[in-house]
Amino acid sequence: MEKKIKVAVMGATGAVGQVFMWMLADHPWFELTYATASASRVGLKYASTVHWVMPFEMPKKIRDVEVKEFNMEAMQEEGVQIVFSALPAEVASEAEPQLRDNGFYVFSNAASMRYDSNVPILIPETNIEQLDLVKTQGYPEKGFVVTNANCVTTGLAMALAPLRKYGIKNIMLHSYQSVSGAGYPGLSSFDITDNCIPFIRGEEEKIEKEIKKILTIDPEVYCFTVRVPVMFGHLEAVWLDFEQDVEVEDIIKDWADFKNVPDLPSTAVQPVEYGADPTFPQPKYAFWGDPSGMVVYTGRLKKKNGKIGFILMVNNIVKGAAGGSIQNAEAFVKKFGLI
Ligand SMILES: NC(=O)c1ccc[n+]([C@@H]2O[C@H](COP(=O)([O-])OP(=O)(O)OC[C@H]3O[C@@H](n4cnc5c(N)ncnc54)[C@H](OP(=O)(O)O)[C@@H]3O)[C@@H](O)[C@H]2O)c1
Repeated sequence: MEKKIKVAVMGATGAVGQVFMWMLADHPWFELTYATASASRVGLKYASTVHWVMPFEMPKKIRDVEVKEFNMEAMQEEGVQIVFSALPAEVASEAEPQLRDNGFYVFSNAASMRYDSNVPILIPETNIEQLDLVKTQGYPEKGFVVTNANCVTTGLAMALAPLRKYGIKNIMLHSYQSVSGAGYPGLSSFDITDNCIPFIRGEEEKIEKEIKKILTIDPEVYCFTVRVPVMFGHLEAVWLDFEQDVEVEDIIKDWADFKNVPDLPSTAVQPVEYGADPTFPQPKYAFWGDPSGMVVYTGRLKKKNGKIGFILMVNNIVKGAAGGSIQNAEAFVKKFGLI
């Protein structure tokens, strides 16, 4: 590619924003041009103000990036085309429609626009066709918003996409969600150390709504979502009822064959990886895979009374958030020929 596309990150200092900064530091198609955070950080160098929580060193290239205010004129002057949003939903609900109306291509992690009928919840491996919804928002004459799913839903959708053909009747899901899912600083250490919290506000409703929209299926969904004292990576224990009789061997093969996905820089070589070891998967594998953190791991697969059960692990801030968003932007750029 001759020239990289200029991109901005909104909310660059949060848990998801830090993954954007890390993944965009050396991206083959995108050039990080503009980064924002809350007003108190404006004018400061990124490394001097961010509380870096990633489990590896901050890339040198982003250390001196200046945190700027949210100013659409300045962004236009800098040539920004794509905006990645890692803003809290209440801030995003004002900022994202404004960005779209000013011609930016917005790829958002926030839930505020996910359920609008002309806004896709995109996961390129599962529903690339829904990217066409950008045209109903007015692209190419106008900007648009594309969202990615809630992090638990992303892991679930990836594992279920190749199993849709069997007719998914019921989904029963219990999650074990890491603290990074609540952002930084997130929960008080008094509340989560040596403890599990069996309630995450709004989470179960999001999973039910989003899995139906992404996979265009209509199963009954039964969820419990639990916060656990783990830094990164959400585990999900899943039981499924299918319309057809399915064997565990079929499912292992379906996950192994789940490779007919767009060839994009951030698409995992093997997007769903099954492991037969009975102690697999665990959150400590969150940053495994190629690209790191983009693989959904599955294990503990079993069948009982016609139901299929398994455990999955998704990196909530990479595939489940910023990495998924970057992959969505890559899918858009490739499909509409911006490269
Ligand atoms: N964490 C996850 O696993 C995950 C997964 C999927 C989706 N999401 C969604 O992604 C979004 C970001 O989540 P997060 O976990 O990264 O949250 P976070 O850690 O709380 O980060 C929020 C970011 O937004 C900035 N911000 C807050 N209020 C602002 C304002 N009024 N104006 C400008 N910037 C403001 C913060 O800047 P300061 O640092 O200066 O306050 C920070 O950079 C949320 O909508 C969340 O629901 C999160």
